[in-house]
Amino acid sequence: MSEIEITTLEIPLTLSADGSDDFTAATALRNETDEIVQHYPELAHDPLVSLATWQPSAFEDRRMLVARDQDRIVGRGDYSTNVGEDADTAWIETYVHPAYRRRGVGSRLLTELEKIAADAGKRKVHVYVSSVPTDGALLDSPTGFGAVPRDGAGTQFLQSQQYSFEQVERVSRLPLPVPGLHSLVDDAITRCSRDYAVHEWVGLCPEQWRDDLALLYTRMSTDEPSAGLEPPEDIWTAERVVDHDERELASGVTTVYAAIEHVASGELIAYTALTVPEQPELAVLQDNTIVLGEHRGHRLGNLLKVLNLAHLQRVAPGHPSVITYNAEENRHMLSVNEAVGFVPIGYEGAWKKELR
Ligand SMILES: CC(C)(COP(=O)(O)OP(=O)(O)OC[C@H]1O[C@@H](n2cnc3c(N)ncnc32)[C@H](O)[C@@H]1OP(=O)(O)O)[C@@H](O)C(=O)NCCC(=O)NCCS
Repeated sequence: MSEIEITTLEIPLTLSADGSDDFTAATALRNETDEIVQHYPELAHDPLVSLATWQPSAFEDRRMLVARDQDRIVGRGDYSTNVGEDADTAWIETYVHPAYRRRGVGSRLLTELEKIAADAGKRKVHVYVSSVPTDGALLDSPTGFGAVPRDGAGTQFLQSQQYSFEQVERVSRLPLPVPGLHSLVDDAITRCSRDYAVHEWVGLCPEQWRDDLALLYTRMSTDEPSAGLEPPEDIWTAERVVDHDERELASGVTTVYAAIEHVASGELIAYTALTVPEQPELAVLQDNTIVLGEHRGHRLGNLLKVLNLAHLQRVAPGHPSVITYNAEENRHMLSVNEAVGFVPIGYEGAWKKELR
């Protein structure tokens, strides 16, 4: 085989009509090498949606490396980080075509990504690796909750590169439509205190809620159980909320929101979002769900979930499922999801490497 060359992929503004561009090839490679996507094609990444995410941003820095065998893209390495003084972490991923594995391509990509992170002054990198349930040997999470396949390529690879295993996220699937959803909504509303009011919107966040939503995003970065990963606080502003929403609109994705206002203060204290792709055969993705700490214990998480599923059913029906990712130790969120009908379909291992 010829020499494999690693270069930075210049992110294009648009894709070629016939799908022959490098960005589309790199997206296809990711779909071909992600174990959960292979089992659930409804989770495939759409190049147009990814393209909007990858456009330059004032709030995030992203780079994509590709490994080429002549004209063919056979490996891919993703780097992303937030901008700002507290942003001490980068998230990286590597994917190598099965025909090109065990030739050092993955290690070369990983080393280059780590170097980008180190040169940018990052303290550590995080890597997430997806897997489907297996009958084979397992590696238990150090949190005591969940496990990943011990002999999986991703597990073996990251161990060989001196990464520490930190946490397991459960990937859960809810088949759509949800049976009995209306009675679940009625029940949740009946139980809800009159201290709270619900709001719904699609796409661009209404101006009056942008500051509140920015605070909810910021809290999301630190409030989720994160084991030994120590994610940095990711500070959001109203401007970043608008930037995020405009990018999603440009990508053709529709985001469906339900939020809860604390009536006495007039502030949003909880929200959830579902990201809906254009193609009806693709899954809807559950984005953030958060209830601020001081308002927990009022069954607002359950209310948000069922309300937004009903909202989804009204504005964008016809998708096969909703997919959600939760820390395996996040029992409260898992219970809310299980009560609606989510079932586990896979596990993501979260790995970390200190760079200095
Ligand atoms: C994980 C992955 C990126 C590895 O790519 P690769 O090019 O085969 O990796 P390398 O050749 O650089 O492997 C380096 C070392 O990792 C270990 N390793 C990698 N794959 C392994 C496997 N399937 N079984 C056992 N050890 C493995 C070995 O120690 C290997 O060194 P060796 O070949 O000299 O024994 C590739 O299997 C892949 O794309 N998997 C799907 C996506 C994924 O899980 N990505 C994980 C990181 S985000």
